[in-house]
Amino acid sequence: MANVLILGANGRLARNTTVYLLQHTNAHLRLYLRKANRLKRPDVQRVEIVEGDVLDAVTLRAAMEGQDIVFASLAGAMAAQAKAIVHAMQTVGCMRLIFTSSMGIYGEVPGERYRSVLDPYRDSAAIIEASDLDFTILRPGWFTTDAAVSYRLTQRDEPFDGHDVSLNSISDVVAKIVATPSLHSRTSLGIAKG
Ligand SMILES: NC(=O)c1ccc[n+]([C@@H]2O[C@H](COP(=O)([O-])OP(=O)(O)OC[C@H]3O[C@@H](n4cnc5c(N)ncnc54)[C@H](OP(=O)(O)O)[C@@H]3O)[C@@H](O)[C@H]2O)c1
Repeated sequence: MANVLILGANGRLARNTTVYLLQHTNAHLRLYLRKANRLKRPDVQRVEIVEGDVLDAVTLRAAMEGQDIVFASLAGAMAAQAKAIVHAMQTVGCMRLIFTSSMGIYGEVPGERYRSVLDPYRDSAAIIEASDLDFTILRPGWFTTDAAVSYRLTQRDEPFDGHDVSLNSISDVVAKIVATPSLHSRTSLGIAKG
């Protein structure tokens, strides 16, 4: 049974993944977010809530104690966040990271030019790829809310194959890694509707 720390736990994908992991794995979840009173524990036995900012090194490190896998689903100052996460994980000795980025960070989407709005996503991915962590970077397409789990994965050196993807599909990739942490190790995965 894995202990999973979810960073940015009040975000859309994070909340979807929390529910999905509770339904599809037996993992214990530690939800990390700012202003923690916004979230209710969906399962008292398997979920705990920690209030914190990812850029607060002391709180982040403490939250990582005893965790097997970190799932980051953040926005904003992502390069600074990536540095803080890598440092905290190395300090605590928790090495398995799943980090949410975006399609397009390598200019890999056919017909679409790289846009500077993706700089924080590209820069944070580069920080993680340069680390010694056991990482998986997720590069999803645009989120949809249909319940279907249907997706195609593409590797870093392949063209992105699609445009949209359901939140459940992204959460399913996370759940598969939680169940088998060696899966997709040190890879950057494009995720589009299958
Ligand atoms: N929507 C799409 O179609 C799409 C497609 C591809 C990729 N993405 C990317 O996937 C990621 C997840 O998407 P989403 O829709 O779930 O995003 P979201 O709802 O905006 O969630 C991001 C979360 O990050 C948290 N956060 C930001 N800075 C933080 C910090 N310093 N410490 C702690 N938490 C912090 C925010 O917390 P607060 O609530 O406290 O601000 C927020 O809850 C985003 O980076 C998004 O750009 C989205």
